[in-house]
Amino acid sequence: MTEEQSDTFYVTTPIYYPSDRLHIGHAYTTVAADAIARFKEMKGYDTVFLTGSDEHGQKIERRAAEAEENPKDFVDEIVGTFVDLWQTLGIDYDQFIRTTDQYHKDAVQHIFDTLHDKGDIYLDEYEGWYCTPCETYWREHQIGTENECPDCGRELEWVEEESYFFRLSDYADDLYSHIKENPQFIQPESRRNEMLSFIEDGLEDLSVSRTTFDWGIDVPFDEDHVVYVWIDALSNYITALGYPESDQRFEKYWPADIHIVGKDILRFHTIIWPAILMGLDLPLPEQVFGHGWLLTETGKMSKSRGNVVDPMELSEDFGRDAIRYYLLREVPFGSDGTYSTEALINRINSDLANDLGNLLHRTLSMVEQNFAGVIPAPDKKSEIDKDLKNMALKTARSVADQIDGLRYTQALEELMNFVRRSNKYIDETRPWILAEDEDQHDRLKTVLYNLLEALRFISIMLKPFMVDTPEEIGHQMGCRREIVMSDWSDLDEWGQLPVGRSVRKGDPIYPRIDLEEYFAGKEETEEVDSETEQTQEEKKEMPEGLISFREFQRLELKVAKIEEAERISGSDKLLRLVIEIGEDEKRQLVAGLARHYSAEELMDKQIAVIENLEPAEIFGVESQGMLLAAEDKDGSLSLLEPDVRVEPGAEIS
Ligand code: MSP
Repeated sequence: MTEEQSDTFYVTTPIYYPSDRLHIGHAYTTVAADAIARFKEMKGYDTVFLTGSDEHGQKIERRAAEAEENPKDFVDEIVGTFVDLWQTLGIDYDQFIRTTDQYHKDAVQHIFDTLHDKGDIYLDEYEGWYCTPCETYWREHQIGTENECPDCGRELEWVEEESYFFRLSDYADDLYSHIKENPQFIQPESRRNEMLSFIEDGLEDLSVSRTTFDWGIDVPFDEDHVVYVWIDALSNYITALGYPESDQRFEKYWPADIHIVGKDILRFHTIIWPAILMGLDLPLPEQVFGHGWLLTETGKMSKSRGNVVDPMELSEDFGRDAIRYYLLREVPFGSDGTYSTEALINRINSDLANDLGNLLHRTLSMVEQNFAGVIPAPDKKSEIDKDLKNMALKTARSVADQIDGLRYTQALEELMNFVRRSNKYIDETRPWILAEDEDQHDRLKTVLYNLLEALRFISIMLKPFMVDTPEEIGHQMGCRREIVMSDWSDLDEWGQLPVGRSVRKGDPIYPRIDLEEYFAGKEETEEVDSETEQTQEEKKEMPEGLISFREFQRLELKVAKIEEAERISGSDKLLRLVIEIGEDEKRQLVAGLARHYSAEELMDKQIAVIENLEPAEIFGVESQGMLLAAEDKDGSLSLLEPDVRVEPGAEIS
């Protein structure tokens, strides 16, 4: 690398398909890229962070047709939601590329022309399978007997058409050597081995144009063909920098330092993309990092499975910083991990409310109580102080190394260890005892100064990960500007916090969230939402407050017998019940009965149950129905039981 290049840093996310709204899995890639970009910026690199949208291809054309819109209008609308989402999550990208932008289209045609002129692209017939959702070609030997996509499991389509081909096979040896000789090129290590064996199995030439639909960039010398969407999409990483124009940006920032992508699209980025770059005589990116999947308890997130988690909604409920923190703290970057709202809330409560929030609140309260809210100048030193200071300096260095290696989980773990160490410093120095003794006031000044300085370190180290929290901590410490303007070199020395500023203690930055209340509130909102979805017609016909007979008939009310009952751990209201609701038919219910009945009392009781209520997860346990109980004035609950015992499953009408 030349002197000039080493000062730049170019990071990219994949460009997203605007076929659907983005979910938390998509946000995962972008938050991760945003963190490294913010960090490099703080380290003084001239950073470019690119993201965008991948708007062509058969999949989008079909979605647009289903929506009865022309493809451009269709994508315009969805891309608008991407931009909103990135803004909500505080994604500070430098450039947003759309593959429908004219400069990109021109550049892709140039790339196609160049490879064709060179003999790397030739005309032939394609016969084989195609996965439209993945926009991927598959050969017979790569798929099983079911004709399902080996990547996504969806049905493949048989394609027979004239197509231009790229001589991918010619690049197999060079690619293999490059991956072998440059261990950093594909990370994590395990993914590198996967890609090497993929090449060992043999590379075939790649079909790079389609004739059976129109929504794409025209092949410049043959208007019957559109460019294969992956060639179009991958090229974005260089067209965004102005390639092929001899643009200073391209010269300055290419090759990219890192492409961050999900593991599902690593093959495109480490085999097809480098081969194209080799064909164009361009240098290859320094690294392609393939991160793992963010799954839900019911598997991979997808609209068809109905298990997508909406990052906008989460951000409204918990704030963007908590989401960003959770995404990067919870799952080691590179591995698969499971998203759960319960884990998110637990993480907020333990790390952000308890450890971080308390440290700030306790420290500022003591500054207010003892020094009229003014940051005191430190005085005498002691061993305990040195320990805190050394740990701050060491943590700053080590967190930087971890972020550099995209080991976000470890970075945040170390950062939080320092937060906990700072809380321990309060316990060790016992400022409330020092405050009682006039002679100890100098010592108290030092202790509080050190705590505030620790908070300065913490808020600066949080800046790659969080957007508002560091600023808010700075604001409450009376040093907002310093924190906002700070870069990583402000962590080189201990003791830079200005004295004499007035602190402004506010509300706790992360109030604790009550898991039970949160889920109960969610259920209520969902009920209201589904009510609003009822057809207006039905509503119009009915006088206010009444339901129609048709609506009543939709309820399936039955008698059930309780077979098992137990407390749900962590909740003082909820019980998990197993009920028999017909011959050999068992159901699980979650009921808020724990304060009214013991588990033993409930055994064998016959109860009334709504059978066809949509299942809901309450406190991490699925509830498949709802029992009926009467609530007395004092709030006590009494179960509704049949007058005489009946067979479980008997209908209530
Ligand atoms: N358009 C292509 C990328 C072209 S890049 C030249 C594409 N788009 S995508 O919208 O389907 O996916 C974008 C990114 O989101 C990919 O990195 C993908 O791996 C990531 N994720 C989508 N769902 C995800 C999870 N559930 N978990 C983690 N990442 C996920 O692929």
